[in-house]
Amino acid sequence: MTKDATPVTRDGAREILKANDRGGYTVPNANVYPFQWNWDSAFVALGFQTFDEPRAWSELETLFSGQWDDGMVPHIVFHRPADGYYPGPAAWGTHHTPPTSGISQPPVAASAALRLFRAARDAQAARQRAQKLLPKLLAWHRWWHEIRDPDRSGLVTCVHPWESGRDNLPDWDAPLAAVTPTVDVSALRKDLTHVGAAERPTHDFYNRVMTLVEQARALGWNGAQIARESEFRVCDLGIQCILLRADRDLHDLAWALEDAAAATEVGHWIARSDAALTRLRADDGSFRSLDLRTGKLAPAITSATFLPLYARAVDQQTASALAELFERWATKARFAVPSTDPDFAGFDPQRYWRGPVWLVMNFMIADGFAGYGFSEIASRIREGSAGLVRQSGLREYFDPRNGDGLGGRDFSWSAAIVLCWDLVA
Ligand code: DGY
Repeated sequence: MTKDATPVTRDGAREILKANDRGGYTVPNANVYPFQWNWDSAFVALGFQTFDEPRAWSELETLFSGQWDDGMVPHIVFHRPADGYYPGPAAWGTHHTPPTSGISQPPVAASAALRLFRAARDAQAARQRAQKLLPKLLAWHRWWHEIRDPDRSGLVTCVHPWESGRDNLPDWDAPLAAVTPTVDVSALRKDLTHVGAAERPTHDFYNRVMTLVEQARALGWNGAQIARESEFRVCDLGIQCILLRADRDLHDLAWALEDAAAATEVGHWIARSDAALTRLRADDGSFRSLDLRTGKLAPAITSATFLPLYARAVDQQTASALAELFERWATKARFAVPSTDPDFAGFDPQRYWRGPVWLVMNFMIADGFAGYGFSEIASRIREGSAGLVRQSGLREYFDPRNGDGLGGRDFSWSAAIVLCWDLVA
């Protein structure tokens, strides 16, 4: 066991969610991330659902208090000032109350809402809350499919590595190399006061991603212009698959709430995205992110390569090929699922998204395998996740070679996955 890890129990996981609760929203971690993060909150809602249904709904509702007029739901909502994080509201310079960042994050919320709705112990309350949330979810998905897909290609544009939620994947190295850094923010960073530098992105990465923030500010945070003009424009395989699954879930939610018009609109998005996925397929058959500026597919296979299963977007033969890929990775890394291919030259088992295991990715990947009948693989991923938590506690991410805990501690979404996936006694 990592020396400072105390054994995790369900009670302990609940206590972490309660301790990170700031009243209607949950911080991912009290030190490293002291505000509300978008996809974190969607998973956190699933954790709350296991013991406090009203609180689970309020996590999603509070997230949508940050929604912009054009439908965008930002990746951070700065409900209250807090020290210890850079870039805070002043660095983003957006115009919203409460203050927010200017980019979005993988849209997990509709999938979370459907799950809360279906599992509700109080069905009437759930229906009322889902009904209020539905138009907001629709507006957000419409923003992805219209503002972020201006040519209606079926592939949505991601304009910032932080938007992918998988911040410093090798996928973003080439697109970021084309961005000329115009700022030096190394002295402003706060993350390195909480987490070791070897586990975090480099200064060069920060200078480039903050240059992108400056450029978007200069465009007045105009969504349509940013989608067309950003120096960083990629189709992130993660967002693409998570959105497709969330569209399917939104479609089901709309039908359950008898909103046929909404279901029909979502149905068109699903058809377009389903048809477009083939453009993310490399010659070796694997799915990858795409640099929309150069037309080049990413050099590495990452854990998102398995997410077309989660999106229910492939046939059985492709699912079998992904099962084989999983088995290859399993011979290289003791703990599944590394964030980057262990055979990739840039595989870095301790650095943010360049190798470590994330429980939320495991949860979605296992769901994908289970959905295609690979229940044995799904069980192995779940058991391995339980092993990571037993060994190292509720860490932000884990070393796939030996299960060492990395990044922040007492992490909300790790606690949520423990609860909703029932990982500990
Ligand atoms: C960070 O600050 O590292 C976050 O991942 C950005 O969302």
